[in-house]
Parts: sequence; C-alpha cells; structure tokens
Amino acid sequence: MKPSKEPLLTVTEIHRRVAELAETLSSDFAGKEIVVIPVLKGGFHFASDLTRLLSLSLTLDFIRARSYRGERSKGTVEFLLLPTEPLTGKHVIVVEDILDTGRTTAAVLDRIQAENPESLSLCVLLDKPANREVDVSADYVGFQIDNHFVVGYGLDYNEHYRELPAVHILESG
Ligand code: XMP
Ligand code: MG
Repeated sequence: MKPSKEPLLTVTEIHRRVAELAETLSSDFAGKEIVVIPVLKGGFHFASDLTRLLSLSLTLDFIRARSYRGERSKGTVEFLLLPTEPLTGKHVIVVEDILDTGRTTAAVLDRIQAENPESLSLCVLLDKPANREVDVSADYVGFQIDNHFVVGYGLDYNEHYRELPAVHILESG
C-alpha cells in the first residue's frame, strides 16, 4: 500500500481552507475563553496550523484516543492521554483529523462533556459521511471526502505517512 502520486488535497488547498476555518472560528468565538483540544496523533498538523491562525486568546490541552477496529472489540475506544486542565465553564473546541464511522469522535466528545464545559464544538479536517455508524456531526468541516482511506497531513497507515504535507489516497501496490 502506498500514497497516490497526486494528492487528493494539495498543500495549497489545505492551507487555504485552514485559513478560512480559522477566520470563521475567530469570529464565532470572539471574546470567549477557549480551550483547543487536538485529538492525537492525527490532529497534530491540522491543530498546529489552525491555532497559529486564530486571532483568539486560547489554551491548548490534548487527548489521545485509540479505537479498536477488529470484529470482537469493534467500537471500543481507549484513552491514552486526557486533558489535565479544568474544562468546566470553558468553550472547548475539539480538533480532529477525520470523522469516519464516528465512534472515536463520539467517545472523545462524551469524555469531554463529562467535564462540564460551557460549550463543546467539533472541528474536523476531513469528513467521510458515507461511512458513519454513530450519529455525530462536526460543527466545522475542512473537506467532505468520498469513502477513500487517506494518509498525510497527520493521517497514518500503520503509523506511516503522517509527515506528508498533503492528503493522499492510499493505493494498493
Ligand atoms: P472513526 O471510525 O472512529 O475513526 O470515526 C476515526 C479514526 O480512524 C482513523 N481513520 C483514518 N485514518 N485515514 C487514516 O489515516 C483514513 O482514511 C481514516 N479513516 C479513519 C483515524 O485515526 C481517525 O481518528
Ligand atoms: Mg489512525
């Protein structure tokens, strides 16, 4: 398996869209105390680029989730890292690489909701609505994509290709 030669989303397209999202978020959350929570590992490039373009005062915390996709334990989500700052009364923005079946995201949102934030919003770079199994939707979406497995810009195949600057379809061969 390897990344497609031509990207599905180029560096230019990604950066242009990230800048648009940053502008929307900066306007929607103006004057509010926000906490940005990237979901590791996949959300790290997106959150890094996005937060540097926000004209908001913010703090960062992190969550790391691992989802099991095998038949028997399908849907089980384990947290390897949890936010350490109190989230009560804060406006929380969760930043994820991709919304696919929705299982990982739903578990992340449930976990954060338990901390009683003032508001909880979800910002994803990619949305694959065709594959949804759980009723969850993002408040802010970079790109809707067809049901491809994609890598790059944080997204991995067996932990590889996260470092690619663009998003590519994973192809056999
Ligand atoms: P769910 O299905 O729980 O999945 O919404 C979210 C997590 O699954 C991984 N995922 C992908 N990773 N390319 C990837 O590199 C993809 O096309 C893809 N689809 C799902 C990813 O870790 C995501 O956080
Ligand atoms: Mg992954």
